[in-house]
Amino acid sequence: MIESSKDPSYIDLDLSLKYRVKDISLAEEGYKDMQLSEKEMPGLMAIRKKYGPEKPFKGLKIMGSLHMTIQTAMLIDTLYELGADIRWASCNIFSTQDHAAAAIAQKGSAAVFAWKGETLDEFWWCTEQALVWPDGSGPDLIVDDGGDATLYVHQGVKMEKDPSLLDHKTNSLDEKCLIDRLRVGFQEDPKKWSTIAKKIRGVSEETTTGVHRLYQLAEKKELLFPAINVNDSVTKSKFDNLYGCRESLADGIKRGTDIMIAGKTVIVAGYGDVGKGCAASMKGYGAIVWVTEIDPICALQAAMEGYRVVTMEEAVPHGDIFVTATGNYHVIKGEHIELMKDEAIICNIGHFDNEIEMSYLDNHPKAVKINIKPQVDKWVLESGRSVIVLAEGRLVNLGCATGHPSFVMSNSFSNQTLAQIKLAKEDLETKVYTLPKELDEEVARLHLKNLSVSLTQMTQEQADYLGIPINGPFKTDNYKY
Ligand code: NAD
Ligand code: ADE
Repeated sequence: MIESSKDPSYIDLDLSLKYRVKDISLAEEGYKDMQLSEKEMPGLMAIRKKYGPEKPFKGLKIMGSLHMTIQTAMLIDTLYELGADIRWASCNIFSTQDHAAAAIAQKGSAAVFAWKGETLDEFWWCTEQALVWPDGSGPDLIVDDGGDATLYVHQGVKMEKDPSLLDHKTNSLDEKCLIDRLRVGFQEDPKKWSTIAKKIRGVSEETTTGVHRLYQLAEKKELLFPAINVNDSVTKSKFDNLYGCRESLADGIKRGTDIMIAGKTVIVAGYGDVGKGCAASMKGYGAIVWVTEIDPICALQAAMEGYRVVTMEEAVPHGDIFVTATGNYHVIKGEHIELMKDEAIICNIGHFDNEIEMSYLDNHPKAVKINIKPQVDKWVLESGRSVIVLAEGRLVNLGCATGHPSFVMSNSFSNQTLAQIKLAKEDLETKVYTLPKELDEEVARLHLKNLSVSLTQMTQEQADYLGIPINGPFKTDNYKY
């Protein structure tokens, strides 16, 4: 059953608003946390120093759709120091840290529309509030995480070309809320999104799932502006997805449930970058870790690390904790949930909320949801057994905790800032780019000092022997797996 809250205040935009956050009085707390993270975000601080005087974003409007955390507040301040005019929304209904949103709102470095616990109507309202400036114009640049801002503009343009799409019936509440918004916009101005899209210089995309969406758009020749795939910078996916999740998965599970992980059987679905981090984390706590995979290479890697590789059907009766990390759809289905142990914990760390078939629970006439605390629900099944679902199947590390630590996000967001500078300065073709290896190495260099790393300097003789420049880019590709 599709329902939307239909709160009238989230139908019309209010472009006079400078922000909508949960509680502006939390700003002071936000500043203190931001100050703490300065030391842990050396990449962002160095970029501020290097590009601050030049102001590469002067005269440019940047819209962000990315988890409104303390680390993101640091990214926003960096873009601001580089001259941008910024509007921001979170890319997930549960991931906002309200003190971070309040700090940015109070400082005025961005107009921010985000709070923890948005409804889907509110989420899409916030996204549009961030996409449209008070004079009705749109952004020059987008920072996207998961592709919802990019989707908004692309769907808007598509529906203006074929308004019958506004009557499309869907079973997805998310999609319905977006279509409802686009219908309101179309009635006001049937060229709104086409005009906005024309001015966009490009988007930089943060995550694996968003990058998949971009390549799909490019393949269908539907991409409307240049895009930079930030995820596949080595200093992003091989650090944030892997080492970030290695710390923030456990944080989410523990804040949600206080469960002892040692001795439990943890099933990790997907052994990509995120799954590798999740499995390593759970193993580190003393759990017995089983992995599910569809890719034979990743399955073999998991086996070589000592994990038992099984199918979900084999895993289901044994698991105490289930973690989906695939970016895929319905990896844990209703039929799996029915066969789990009593009070098994189910969570997802992938970008969207459909890795676990939550609609099975939501629509089951005999399944009863008991809310334990925000973002933790016990579902009592018809069998009398229960399962504990974290963050309603949305990413557990940001829903039940505060996401990755600052240091790893400094790597990701240094790449984001460099991608934005590239989009601002260069007139790119409409396709999907990755950042050059030199920049990847530069981002890594900026983070070495904090960890007291002494880098070996090659001799000229060695450089000649290998046939590469003495200061890189290095040919090494061995961090790929
Ligand atoms: P990836 O492509 O490296 O890994 C995904 C893995 O899942 C692949 O190895 C794939 O073979 C496997 N897989 C796909 N379908 C499967 C299925 N049905 N059963 C078992 N395995 C399956 O992607 P990634 O970088 O690890 O990202 C995974 C998800 O996590 C994406 O949605 C990404 O956007 C998201 N992400 C979340 C965070 C976070 O902080 N929560 C951080 C980074 C990425
Ligand atoms: N993705 C994962 N962790 C994050 C964080 N702390 N801030 C923003 N995005 C994130």
